[in-house]
Amino acid sequence: MHNKTILITGGAGFIGSHVVRLFVEKYPDYKIINLDALTYAGNLENLTDIEDAANYTFVKGDITDEGFINSLFDEYKFDSVIHLAAESHVDRSIKDPLAFVRTNVIGTMILLNAFKALWKDDFADKLFYHVSTDEVYGSLGETGLFEETTSYDPNSPYSASKASSDHFVRAYGETYGMPYVITNCSNNYGQNQFPEKLIPLFINNIINHKPLPVYGDGNYTRDWLYVVDHAIAIDLVFHEGKQGDTYNIGGFNEWKNIDLVKLLCQQMDVALGRDKDSSEELITYVKDRPGHDLRYAIDASKINKELGWKPSVTFEQGLKITIDWYLNNEDWLNSVTSGSYQTYYQKQYS
Ligand code: NAD
Ligand code: DAU
Repeated sequence: MHNKTILITGGAGFIGSHVVRLFVEKYPDYKIINLDALTYAGNLENLTDIEDAANYTFVKGDITDEGFINSLFDEYKFDSVIHLAAESHVDRSIKDPLAFVRTNVIGTMILLNAFKALWKDDFADKLFYHVSTDEVYGSLGETGLFEETTSYDPNSPYSASKASSDHFVRAYGETYGMPYVITNCSNNYGQNQFPEKLIPLFINNIINHKPLPVYGDGNYTRDWLYVVDHAIAIDLVFHEGKQGDTYNIGGFNEWKNIDLVKLLCQQMDVALGRDKDSSEELITYVKDRPGHDLRYAIDASKINKELGWKPSVTFEQGLKITIDWYLNNEDWLNSVTSGSYQTYYQKQYS
């Protein structure tokens, strides 16, 4: 069992906020330090319900700032790190790849070095948990599944930077004996996701009667997992996963983009009380994403068999929870879509 001062990086972001909440609420004896630079994707509004908890501390800071990170590790003597901070959007990585190298590769290296310097050769009861993505495996054809043994074959600057960070984590395990675990998860959806990713972007556009920009022919396939189920899997792997191992996490839930968008449109029409098919009329096919991966699909049987994890909600249930959340949190949506979001949207979709 690990000791209990845990650094969670990127905890003000989408997945990170759900992980922070789960750990703060479930483990009152743990000390949870949430480190986040509060980039455009980080938002403390995601955590107002737990911000006053006795076992929770928020620290604003950048994982690429080596001096700051070293002094933070010195101050808190973290027993474990759950590392989620990253630049996470593929389209942004196509426009500014270096930003992804800085945060995802160099930032991860700085955390690894700080953890190594703190514990030197005595890593008993310590753990570096690296949260990664299925995109490191590249693209599947019409059939097949990503397994933990699938070769890395990243295609976007984002996935290349995540693959690189995965390799460094593994290398620190092999070379310095640092206890680590890596999980590679499929596409998450749910409350608090920044509306640059497919589902929240399209929810926001439907609310505002704006076009739904489907890339290419829409026949790209992704596996979708409800974010809370990802957080539950992270908790399980953190406590019961085998050190030096990797686990794939997925929803057993493949959708072609166009079919998912049509389902979303139907559910939005019902939720908004609009005429049947009115949201579908907003679908607009636009220029494809360069290097667009055709299909991701996860074989999550290892985490299922070894740790007993499986998703707790169906896609239809998860999507309904998500839609209801966005419709009931108009202030959150309005605040994150004002300012720099408008500039981003213009550049990406004009
Ligand atoms: P996100 O973009 O919503 O959040 C990222 C968080 O990291 C933000 O709070 C941001 O402020 C913070 N951050 C960014 N740069 C930082 C820096 N230099 N220093 C400190 N904090 C910084 O991302 P997300 O979708 O929640 O993804 C979290 C992690 O999970 C990422 O590592 C991502 O690669 C991985 N992942 C995401 C998905 C998905 O579908 N979203 C799927 C699998 C894996
Ligand atoms: O697979 C896990 C990954 O899933 C995570 O590692 C990434 O952080 C996360 O962003 C996500 O990557 P994707 O590129 O798959 O997600 P995104 O929501 O950007 O796109 C999903 C699909 O929808 C993809 O095929 C591209 C398409 N798409 C996306 C947008 C934003 C559109 O057709 N139109 C759009 O406007």
